[in-house]
Amino acid sequence: MHAEDWIVERLRGLREDDLYRSTTTYADAGGHVNADGRKLLNLASNDYLNLAQHPDVIAAAKRHLDQWGTGSTASRLVTGTLPCHQQLEERLATHKSYARAVLFGSGYMANVGVITTLVGRGDHVFADRLVHASLIEGVLASRATLHRFQHNDPDHLAALLSEKSDQGRCLVVTESVFSMDGDLAPLAALGEIAVKNDAMLLVDDAHATGVYGPQGAGRVAEENLQGIVNITIGTFSKGLGGYGGFAACSESMAELMINRSRSFIYTTAPAPAAVGAAMGALDVLQEHPEYGQDLLARAARFRQTLEQQGLETGAGTSHIIPLLIGDSAATLAVARELHDQGVLVVAFRPPTVPEGSARLRLAPTLAHSDEELAQAAEKIAAVAGSRAHAA
Ligand SMILES: Cc1ncc(COP(=O)(O)O)c(C=O)c1O
Repeated sequence: MHAEDWIVERLRGLREDDLYRSTTTYADAGGHVNADGRKLLNLASNDYLNLAQHPDVIAAAKRHLDQWGTGSTASRLVTGTLPCHQQLEERLATHKSYARAVLFGSGYMANVGVITTLVGRGDHVFADRLVHASLIEGVLASRATLHRFQHNDPDHLAALLSEKSDQGRCLVVTESVFSMDGDLAPLAALGEIAVKNDAMLLVDDAHATGVYGPQGAGRVAEENLQGIVNITIGTFSKGLGGYGGFAACSESMAELMINRSRSFIYTTAPAPAAVGAAMGALDVLQEHPEYGQDLLARAARFRQTLEQQGLETGAGTSHIIPLLIGDSAATLAVARELHDQGVLVVAFRPPTVPEGSARLRLAPTLAHSDEELAQAAEKIAAVAGSRAHAA
């Protein structure tokens, strides 16, 4: 079939299944955005602490831009390593209480680069059934055998590990705060099983970074699990309001990343302004270690208000609140109606979430007042009401 023909056919199929996606341009970014001349309360961003708009973060990015220019001009192993990269890596290692940290272009690149470095053909990855696409991408690229354990089920993980009979290396993979469900992984229990089975443990702290733990250092730091979590992934792109990713790990693992990780080696070093924004965000959190707790308290009040309105908000306790609808078309319709009422939520559909579990993902941020959130809850209940149900 001619290339254009199969592409058109594929797009038609996506439309028919209500899985077609397109980008929308918003006039601005933040907790409130303008679209089609209308002001919307943005419950769809990952800028949980509103740091993308923070003057100190912007100023730090500008200082780095002025000092080092727009680009790092080369990959890290060529001439792209600047003092700001080294400073940020040292700071992140201290922040996360690991021996070392390694910067990547994004959280996605960190996940792919780390997994492909740690395992290969003949090895095994045991991943929670709901982990993020970037982690799965890493497993597929590594050619290791993928085993999925039931969501947040350490017993199932233990059972799968006990079935393995060859000598291949084992890596257990989970998120600490699940991006689409907002529930928390039982990190200590998973860690115990990993240690018992001589498996490595990778925790993706993407949605916990900035929110949980001392000065937003994440859930691994909060629970002091650095001794059993071999590698923690973080991103600047969510709670820290910027862009970029990193891995925190041991000295030798960092050296291995630098020598073997293709998404570290074969790409240009992160831009100075992005490095500066990350530094600025860490400074803000040092000065305001209460921000994460403030957000969690605000999210808990919002969750409670939604429940008082008769909505089920799932098993989570975090700042990410799923409203399960199930059917993709119905979820899209609810998102559209809410948009018309000034509330911006996005319909998450397969393959981002499992088949039949399309949902709205509500993410309140520090840019939103309790009053605004209460008003939004009323609108969400009125529109989603009978269509939303428990996970
Ligand atoms: C759990 C998880 N890990 C990693 C990523 C990727 O992070 P980044 O946006 O920095 O590429 C995301 C976000 O999309 C995520 O939700």
